[in-house]
Amino acid sequence: MRNDQLPHLPPTDPAGEIPDAAHDAADNAAHDAAGEGGHGMSGARRVVLSFVRRRERLDERLERAKETYQDRYMLPIDAGGARLGVRLGVRFDRALVERAWGNDHPLIVEVGTGQGENIVAAAAARPDMNFLALEVYDPGIAHTLLLAGKQGLDNLRIAQVNAPALFEVAESGLAAEVWTFFPDPWPKMRHHKRRIVQPAFADAIRRVLVPGGVWRIATDIEDYALHVHEVMDGRADMRNAGSVTVSLPTEHVGKGTAGMAQAMPHADFLESERFDGRILTNFERKGIAAGRRIHDFTYQAV
Ligand SMILES: C[S@@+](CC[C@H](N)C(=O)[O-])C[C@H]1O[C@@H](n2cnc3c(N)ncnc32)[C@H](O)[C@@H]1O
Repeated sequence: MRNDQLPHLPPTDPAGEIPDAAHDAADNAAHDAAGEGGHGMSGARRVVLSFVRRRERLDERLERAKETYQDRYMLPIDAGGARLGVRLGVRFDRALVERAWGNDHPLIVEVGTGQGENIVAAAAARPDMNFLALEVYDPGIAHTLLLAGKQGLDNLRIAQVNAPALFEVAESGLAAEVWTFFPDPWPKMRHHKRRIVQPAFADAIRRVLVPGGVWRIATDIEDYALHVHEVMDGRADMRNAGSVTVSLPTEHVGKGTAGMAQAMPHADFLESERFDGRILTNFERKGIAAGRRIHDFTYQAV
């Protein structure tokens, strides 16, 4: 089904022009200064974002891919603008899935797909599943379009939205799995609140997962691994399904203090074996090349 056949989508917010990077930086700095927390839809509530939106020029190849494949793969549900919220009135429900994918196969949502190598490979390997790529970065979206179009995939759709905003308007029990691989580390202490794994986002993901569904997370940043355990391990509604014991510092470090981590008190945590449904992207490859351990997590909705 083509996206222009998706009925009843209200028009893009007319105020939703993409501002320049300076505007974004000022916008985000203002949110930092206000000390706001949580994630959510654009609009009335001001929220901390896990990304800074920049105007990015596409090279000729990516521009062509965008023109050729956007109608086929993009879900026109974003409000545009710096914050990439979801258009007013959009509800991400089963009816939308059936219109956009043309079936009701189980849905896997990847949050922050980067260049799209992983989700495209996964979609090609599992034609019996529906896949949704969520990404905010223009060249990453265009590259994902290029890969999907070249392979002629039918079971992948892409949305350029702030992922937590989409989960807020998603129907309960809609997704079989959610994946967040190598989220932006936001290493400075004062930026840890920008990390996408947050209690409010976990609440939304739990609600959107089917019972027994899983949120898979991976990071090569030790301090982010501690952050994931802190956000997730105490939840009664999601079980840490890990079976590998990993020792981690129990206090946080930031940019410039990472070297102090080894001397800090450590404790044991449960993590998972490497998820074999993930291909090796540049982010994982770079982490391995730098000698960092890859931390995999599986949290199952109970
Ligand atoms: C470090 S990259 C990892 C990309 C990919 N998962 C991989 O392993 O190659 C993190 C990605 O998450 C995206 N991202 C950050 N915040 C996001 C959000 N709120 N919604 C959707 N994507 C987001 C970034 O634009 C970036 O491409």
